[in-house]
Amino acid sequence: MTSKHTTVKPWGGRFTQATDRTVEKFTESVSFDYRLYRHDITGSIAHARMLVKTGILTEKEGELIVTGLTAILEQIESGQFDWKIELEDVHMNIESALVKRIGEPGKKLHTARSRNDQVATDLRLYLRDEVDTIRNQLQAVMQALAELAGREAETILPGLTHMQVAQPITFGHHMLAWFEMLKRDDQRLQDCRKRINIMPLGAAALAGTDFPIDRHYTSGLLKFDSVAANSLDAVSDRDFAIEFCAVASIIMMHLSRFSEELVLWMNPQFGFIDLADAYCTGSSIMPQKKNPDIPELVRGKTGRVYGDLLALLTLMKAQPLAYNRDNQEDKLSLFDAIDTVEACLSVYAGLIPAITVKRDRMLQAARQGYATATDLADYLVKTGLPFRDAHEAVGQTVNYAIAQGKELSGLTLEEFGRFCSNVKQDIYGVLELSGSVNARDHVGGTAPNQVKVAVREAQEYLNAAKTT
Ligand code: ARG
Repeated sequence: MTSKHTTVKPWGGRFTQATDRTVEKFTESVSFDYRLYRHDITGSIAHARMLVKTGILTEKEGELIVTGLTAILEQIESGQFDWKIELEDVHMNIESALVKRIGEPGKKLHTARSRNDQVATDLRLYLRDEVDTIRNQLQAVMQALAELAGREAETILPGLTHMQVAQPITFGHHMLAWFEMLKRDDQRLQDCRKRINIMPLGAAALAGTDFPIDRHYTSGLLKFDSVAANSLDAVSDRDFAIEFCAVASIIMMHLSRFSEELVLWMNPQFGFIDLADAYCTGSSIMPQKKNPDIPELVRGKTGRVYGDLLALLTLMKAQPLAYNRDNQEDKLSLFDAIDTVEACLSVYAGLIPAITVKRDRMLQAARQGYATATDLADYLVKTGLPFRDAHEAVGQTVNYAIAQGKELSGLTLEEFGRFCSNVKQDIYGVLELSGSVNARDHVGGTAPNQVKVAVREAQEYLNAAKTT
């Protein structure tokens, strides 16, 4: 064996040449998967405990392994750990450090396990924690929206369809529409967590192991809900990461939609809101500028997360069973999606309370554009006219009002009478913006009464979500 190179690689036994430097650089993942260290160690400690419980390792060996891994965790957390590219990934770095620290028993930790089931386990443990963090952040944004909706339950602005004035609505109602979007996202995260929380460990490389392992015991220690039912699927499956990125993409799509509205509302031609200076930035050339860069960046980052989802779908699309090294690439997309969503949610939790609502501007805008034309049509229907005829009559009335340069409420009864019979004095109350919103007083409607009820329900959802 004189020609044999000295190897640091835990898999080096079969090899007679040292790994080429470029190959080492090309194949390493520790530069990004080091992030999994805490979950890798947690998984290894549970695995070691199971090996002791089943008699595969002795109590003494188990104890040394657990103490060694705990010390390594501290070393990493205090920034003292020397990550080595030659040791490829987080798993081999930690295992080598363990062997260095405790000797022989360290070499037994990998009994009845493979990096294939190990990495899938680490990733699920890691993502499970991140999903919990993201749910908390999402709920903080939802809380801010519910509070804003409560304060602005009576505030009127023009509701738009096709970006044109449609009907008056309340600002609280508008905020609660955003709340509903995020509520569905929260529920999607909760649901996707169920499929994350299944333990691959015990699948070993692909076929299971001939040691008498107890997977349910390990699963209980790691707080998984169940163990993966098929070893081939367990090591190769990344559906849980794809599903998470799909949920993350929907969250970003929602944040991007509100970003778009915030940017428009900040424009002085709308002038519906202002954002505190702390949440805006300026221009290096135009001294007058105060720009909504945060919403713009959130809108821009949305594409990144969609890209992460597409990258994972493409990563998996042609993979035969079982594990393939392609899967190492999953982390880059997954981590990016997590980081992006977390950054956007945390900035929005601060930005929403920094919104100043300009009620007068909203009201003024709602007064233009014939926003209560539908109310006039509904009034005529209540006097017995079929809706289609009422629609036609009101269309003509609006056309007349435009030509006269008047709002509907500025027409006289005689003028109404030219197009619509049965219009009486009480029409002026109906054409009032507040009358219009107050009249939409049913579940899901824009009336301030309904907004107040919906805010209470939103708060109940958030209170209950904290305990799930
Ligand atoms: N770093 C690898 C990954 O992230 C760990 C699993 C390696 N397994 C193997 N058979 N080479 O996928």
